Amino acid sequence: MAYLSTDRVEHHFYDLVIVGAGGAGLRCALQLAESGARVAVISKVLPTRSHTVAAQGGINAALGNVSSDHWHWHMYDTVKGSDYLGDQDAIEYMCRAAPLLVRELENFGVPFSRLDSGKIYQRPFGGQSREFGEGGQASRTCAAADRTGHAILHTLYQQNLRAGTHFHEEFFALDLIVGADGCQGVMTWDIAKGAYHLFQAKAVILATGGAGRIFRTTTNAHICTGDGGALALNAGLEVEDMEFFQFHPTGIAHVGPLITEAVRGEGGYLLNSEGERFMPRYAPTAKDLASRDVVSRAIALEIRAGRGCGDNKDYVLLKLDHLGTDMIMQRLPNIHELALRFAGVDCTREPIPVQPTAHYTMGGIPTNRFGEVVSADSEGVEHVVPGLFAIGEAACASVHGANRLGGNSLLEIVVFGRACGNRVSRFLRQHRYHPALTTDCWEPGVARVERWLSQTQATSSIAELRQRMQTLMQEHFSVYRTAEIMQQGVEALDALATELPDAAIADGNRIFNSELIEALELENLMQMARATAACALARQESRGAHARDDFPERDDQNWMKHSLARIRSGRVQVSYKPVRSRPMTVASFPPKKRVY
Ligand code: FUM
Repeated sequence: MAYLSTDRVEHHFYDLVIVGAGGAGLRCALQLAESGARVAVISKVLPTRSHTVAAQGGINAALGNVSSDHWHWHMYDTVKGSDYLGDQDAIEYMCRAAPLLVRELENFGVPFSRLDSGKIYQRPFGGQSREFGEGGQASRTCAAADRTGHAILHTLYQQNLRAGTHFHEEFFALDLIVGADGCQGVMTWDIAKGAYHLFQAKAVILATGGAGRIFRTTTNAHICTGDGGALALNAGLEVEDMEFFQFHPTGIAHVGPLITEAVRGEGGYLLNSEGERFMPRYAPTAKDLASRDVVSRAIALEIRAGRGCGDNKDYVLLKLDHLGTDMIMQRLPNIHELALRFAGVDCTREPIPVQPTAHYTMGGIPTNRFGEVVSADSEGVEHVVPGLFAIGEAACASVHGANRLGGNSLLEIVVFGRACGNRVSRFLRQHRYHPALTTDCWEPGVARVERWLSQTQATSSIAELRQRMQTLMQEHFSVYRTAEIMQQGVEALDALATELPDAAIADGNRIFNSELIEALELENLMQMARATAACALARQESRGAHARDDFPERDDQNWMKHSLARIRSGRVQVSYKPVRSRPMTVASFPPKKRVY
């Protein structure tokens, strides 16, 4: 290709490169920058626009500031919440580490809300219990009003500036450079200047967040396009458990923005069109604070039974006006603003229209609990991919299994950001020199961009293809699924993917070409959507967020295993590996019926 020459590709050398500047990437970067490593963070947006900023309700840790608590109860709730698909060694590690990491955030300067005693405020969240489910509701979620992610992200960014982390903002990751010795770096595109940059590093950490934009209605920002998972798939690696996509029960109806579970934690509740508080029928004990899969399914069933609200009877109502204006403005100010802006509703006076909305990618790039990317062989045995790490929502350490508990995602990013930082420090001590680059390693990344910039004739536009993909995912892989509907979805997605090579963008400029970025993001989304669809069709049971009308029961005999999807010759291949149900130091929680 005429464009290719080394003098058109700027080289950078770092000890490690982190792709993504959300909470996971920044916590990891901080650990490593403070240890003396030369750290680059590459982000396609300004770091404080990363999606962590949108996390609202809080971060879980068994601090016991409001109710008695213990990390082991947190572990029990998380294993139960995961519908027993979570890896119990990783879950034990996360729940044990939680109090330490939250106190560390406090020391970094996160402005947590406070109790009168001065201790960190903790609110009840879904699926939380005391004494292994026997002692009632726990209050475990540490909050900075309803802007906890915003507070954590900004604090971590400031700490990284102090620690000397190098930020490369508005750079898009095009391709992982992987050779026989493992990962050697990442090829990127400088969005603002329209230029290629090759980051050579001893280790690469993918912290790119989730893929919520595979769906039409989502709480996720436009940037959540599964970039890390697609980089891994393009490098011949797998993504894990993609069929488990969390639908948050309370996205604002039809538009998507999140209305935090904290509303129900603080005493709000759901109503159907008959004015009935319906959750006690589905979850007699936890009611509106059952875990998310349970509440989302209940709402879907109410709507299916004709008890939805509005002209199309397709949403329910979240009532919180009884909490009082003072309390709402103190604990839930962001919700008040979001409801006003996106639903035209003053929630101090009237309920908010809500419906289950695509929220969180529980699957992702497979890792162990140290953040090392692992790849399974044909026997399902895992092997570490040298020099490649993944953390946060992009990864699947598998602490969430089939259903994540609210408040465990902010926790995951700091716990595994730190764990990965520790492991990378060890890796850097063992690997003192940059691996030699594979010849012409920049070519695939360059080809990805040049193909879009040179193609002028098109059969379809990027925007149209993206809309069709999102509609397909929404209609065929929503809260309830059947083989027939999913089979149609898989076939339609496969057909759609074949149209992508014939699509074109209208803008051929290199400088700040946002249409080019949307095209690259659509390539990533399409890979992640196809992996999600194939894994969902293959799993013949109902577990957590994967609810099938045609296989309504959980089937531990045949399906207590993780799905793995790879793309080979343009086709998605699905295989499996075992769940790690043995914790590190405590007894395992064996599967039992989940009731709330
Ligand atoms: O409802 C929420 O505030 C969301 C929290 C989470 O997804 O962890």
